[in-house]
Amino acid sequence: MKDLLRTADLSRADVDLLLDTAADFAKSPLRATDTLAHRTVAIYMTKPSTRTRLASETAVAHLGGTPMFLRGDDLQIGRGESIADTARVISGFASALVIRTFKQSDVDELGQYATIPVLNGLTDDDHPTQLLADWVTIREVFGSDIAGRKFTYVGDGNNMAHAWLTMGAILGAHVVAATPSGKWAPDSAAVATAQAIAATTGGKVEVTHDPEAAAKDASVIYTDVWMSMGDPETERQEKLKALSPFAVTDNLMSLTAKDGIFMHCLPAHRGEEVEASVIDGDRSVIWREAYHRRTTIQACLYHLVRGDLQGRL
Ligand code: CP
Ligand code: NVA
Repeated sequence: MKDLLRTADLSRADVDLLLDTAADFAKSPLRATDTLAHRTVAIYMTKPSTRTRLASETAVAHLGGTPMFLRGDDLQIGRGESIADTARVISGFASALVIRTFKQSDVDELGQYATIPVLNGLTDDDHPTQLLADWVTIREVFGSDIAGRKFTYVGDGNNMAHAWLTMGAILGAHVVAATPSGKWAPDSAAVATAQAIAATTGGKVEVTHDPEAAAKDASVIYTDVWMSMGDPETERQEKLKALSPFAVTDNLMSLTAKDGIFMHCLPAHRGEEVEASVIDGDRSVIWREAYHRRTTIQACLYHLVRGDLQGRL
């Protein structure tokens, strides 16, 4: 597998490898500094980023390389140069490309025309590197034996909901997404993909519109912002109203398993999708999760440039 474009592209073996390597990079960040020595990695983002940008630039430095950060209209692509030509040119300079943008199809096209590895740093549909950070964190808390545990996402049926269901399915987990019905439910194609994967791994993928039922006995409650980057401002009021029953409150957390934890990819809006007492409380693992954005992106770049990932067959 040349690129990591979609969460669903990863096999169970790939995920295990990436999570193990990330755990190693947590212990010894500088154990592979020759990987990108004297080489560059392009990081191109047409949406804002705090964690993914900082993590990617730091990961490249830890692998011995130099990050080249390119924002939105820095490139001629903003003036109509094609994705294919841009991909070919970047391939002549950089050893890998991290891309954050709107359309998944643009990322797929970059992967098609680039001869270097392309790593998806978030699209409207998916966020694979975030899920790797989430699962290293989950394994640190619960270990690798997740039989009998339930992993629940509560909130908007967005890129994070899709990635949550897909990664859980790859790992054979019981994953749940509790979202509004209709416009803000997860895309049916993404749910179908996750369910098809779960059918081969022993996982279980559920979508519900009942946050209390989803939270009951869960080991993880995960949430994300209600207004994602690129969401139309004209829909804000309607969307926040539809999502208000899905706020993660102390009351919702009281339904989880005794050892249940709270997770959030961040950025967070306290008082909107999550109460401050939950996200800043004892059961929240958000800072460890954010820390692992670096270890997991470092693992992705390390294995992608070495050509170690097999992909899902
Ligand atoms: N979680 C995450 O991707 O954060 P940023 O948008 O700050 O990169
Ligand atoms: N769903 C959010 C995730 C941010 C990391 C967004 O796309 O803006």
